[in-house]
Amino acid sequence: MALLSVQDLVVRFRTRRQTVHAVNGVSLDVEAGETMGLVGESGCGKSVTSLAIMRLLPRPAGHIEGGALTFDQRDLTRLSESEMRRLRGSEIAMIFQDPMTSLNPVLTIGEQLVETIRAHRRVDQAEARDQALALLRSVGVGDAADRLTRYPHQLSGGMRQRVMISMALALRPRLLIADEPTTALDVTVQAQVLELLRRLVSEHQTAMILITHDMGVIAGMTTRVSVMYAGFVVESGATSELFELPKHPYTVGLLHSMPRLDAPIDRPLVPIEGLPPDLRQAPVGCPFAPRCRWRLPICWTNNPPLAPIGISSPDKHPHLSACWSPPTEAEAARGRPERPGFVAAPMPERSTIRRESRWGRLRSDPR
Ligand SMILES: Nc1ncnc2c1ncn2[C@@H]1O[C@H](COP(=O)(O)OP(=O)(O)OP(=O)(O)O)[C@@H](O)[C@H]1O
Ligand code: SF4
Ligand SMILES: [Mg+2]
Repeated sequence: MALLSVQDLVVRFRTRRQTVHAVNGVSLDVEAGETMGLVGESGCGKSVTSLAIMRLLPRPAGHIEGGALTFDQRDLTRLSESEMRRLRGSEIAMIFQDPMTSLNPVLTIGEQLVETIRAHRRVDQAEARDQALALLRSVGVGDAADRLTRYPHQLSGGMRQRVMISMALALRPRLLIADEPTTALDVTVQAQVLELLRRLVSEHQTAMILITHDMGVIAGMTTRVSVMYAGFVVESGATSELFELPKHPYTVGLLHSMPRLDAPIDRPLVPIEGLPPDLRQAPVGCPFAPRCRWRLPICWTNNPPLAPIGISSPDKHPHLSACWSPPTEAEAARGRPERPGFVAAPMPERSTIRRESRWGRLRSDPR
C-alpha cells in the first residue's frame, strides 16, 4: 500500500466571475522512502496539487471538488482542521516554492524554528533552540548561532532555502513535498541544495515528491515521474524509461527542449510552440491538441484516458500515457512524427469543439 495515494483529484478555483479548472483528475502514488517527480510547465497544476494534499488551498476560492487523498490509510479529505494541523509538519512537510512568502518576515529565523519545534514536540525553549541550531548545521548553514538572530530578508536565497528545508525536516516527516526548491537559486547553490535533499531523504528514509519544471533535476533525483499538462497527468512511469521511451508528445517536447551535455553541439533546441490552454474554460478534447504534431481528429473532441502502454518497466509501476497517437521510439528520438503522408488533424469547425472559448486564443499551430 502506497504511503500517499492521490486518486482522481479535482481542484477548482471558483469566484463569482470565473472558474479555474486547475487540477482535472490527477492520480499519483508515493511509496515510503521513494522520491518521485512531478514535472510540467508553469501553470499546469503542480503547486495546486501539492497544496490540495496539504489541505492548504487558498480560501475561499480554492476547493477540492473530487477525488480521494489517502495518507497512511487515512482519508485526508475527512480529517478535521486540527487533525490536519498535527499531520502537517509531523508527518507531511512542505518546502514552498517561494521561501520569502512562506517565512514570516517579522520573526527571526530562530523564533520561527523554535516555534515550529515547540508546536510539535514537548521541549522547553532552551532545548528547542539547541535543536534549531543542530538543524541549521545539518543543512550546511555556517555560523548557525548568528543566523538564528537574523530575519529572512537578511539571508541570501540559498540560505533561506536551507532554512526552509531545516524547518520542513525539523519533525522528521514521512513525506516531504518540495515545490521547486531550487528554482530561484544559481546553479552551484542549486546543486548543493539538491544534494542536501538527496542526503537527508536517504538518511531518514523520507518519501519525497519533488516538483520542478526542470527535466534535468528529475533525471538526477527521482526514480519515478509524473508529467503534468493543463491540470492532467499525461504520462507517468519509471524515470529512466520515460526518458528513454517517452510515449506522450508533450514529454517528447519537454525532452527536446532541454539542453543536453551528451548531444552534438549543433543539435538545435526545439521549443514546444504555442501556449497551454486557458484553464478558465472547461476541458474539451486532449489539452495538448493545439500544440501537438501527432494530432488525430479524435484529439479535438475526446480526451484520452491515462492508460498502460505496451512497454512496461519490470517494477510494479507501469508506464502510462494519455494519448490517442503515441510517438514511436524513432519518432520520439527525432521529435516529430515520421508517418508517410501524415498531417496533424486540422482544427474542426467551431461548433464542434467550442473553439472560440477554449482554443481560440492559441494562434500557433505546429503542423
Ligand atoms: N489562488 C488562485 N486563484 C485562482 N487561480 C489560481 C490560484 N492559484 C493557482 N491558480 C491557477 O491554477 C493553475 C495551476 O497553478 P499552479 O500554481 O499549480 O501551477 P504550477 O504548475 O505550480 O506552475 P509554476 O511552475 O509556475 O509554479 C494556474 O492556472 C493558476 O493560475
Ligand atoms: S496525439 Fe492527440 S491525444 Fe496524443 S497528445 Fe497529441 S493531441 Fe493529445
Ligand atoms: Mg508552482
